[in-house]
Amino acid sequence: MDWGMKNRLAQLIQPDGHCFFLPIDHGYFQGPTRKLEKPAETIRPLHAYADGLFVTRGVLRACVDPADCPPIILRVSGGASIIGKDLSHEAVTTSMQEAIRLNVAAVGMSIFVGSEYEHDSLVNLGKLVNECEDHGIPVMAVTAVGKELEKRDARYLGLCCRIAAEFGAKVVKTYWCENFDKIVNGCPVPVVMAGGPKCETQREVFEFVYDGMSKGAIGLNLGRNVWQDPYPVAMIKALRAIVHEKATVSDAEDIFQDEKKRAAS
Ligand code: 5RP
Repeated sequence: MDWGMKNRLAQLIQPDGHCFFLPIDHGYFQGPTRKLEKPAETIRPLHAYADGLFVTRGVLRACVDPADCPPIILRVSGGASIIGKDLSHEAVTTSMQEAIRLNVAAVGMSIFVGSEYEHDSLVNLGKLVNECEDHGIPVMAVTAVGKELEKRDARYLGLCCRIAAEFGAKVVKTYWCENFDKIVNGCPVPVVMAGGPKCETQREVFEFVYDGMSKGAIGLNLGRNVWQDPYPVAMIKALRAIVHEKATVSDAEDIFQDEKKRAAS
């Protein structure tokens, strides 16, 4: 691996081999979704605790301080919306020149395995990897968004992750599911977990994150369960402790409660 590629990955994946990426890219197909109406306000209290920020170029330029931000993972795919015909109908929408101009640490795009547009999304991933390899930029493949997430089991997610790795993604984002080790064991590149829609309780989030980490995930690309929580800073600190400090579920709960009290006082 060339120096530039290694350097960019090292900005994102910390010396302990783990990472916490904060995605705030949801607006690219969901519009001003809850608690992300004003992305700058969502990001401000949280960015110091993130090892990377997953964001589109629009939000990056409008809402992120270039002098005070974590390394950027640039979302470069899009082209569909939640009210459109098919969420899986995406293409690469942001050029490599933009990624370089914006000095990003990585780029990210979605693939839609099993959908009508499976072929297009996979070919687009291959082309993106070709370009990124020329410039030493890692690609994070995002698997199973939208309707595809209904198939949330190790067989399906394992298939998506393995295909993404075979196409050259350097990191793959998927969702936690039962038997998560099957996904990790079948994927030759690091796997990070997203959170999906907001869970009922914080404990539920701590439990799946702890389980996924103990089964080989290297970290998180987890958004809504942080920034839609009434106490987002408490949430990100508690999750960071599981990812980077080997905290247990009950350690994370204690951290969350302490931070919540601090925020309320
Ligand atoms: C969809 C994405 C998000 O980055 C990903 O789903 C993680 O966010 P969350 O934890 O909210 O599911 O790729 O735009």
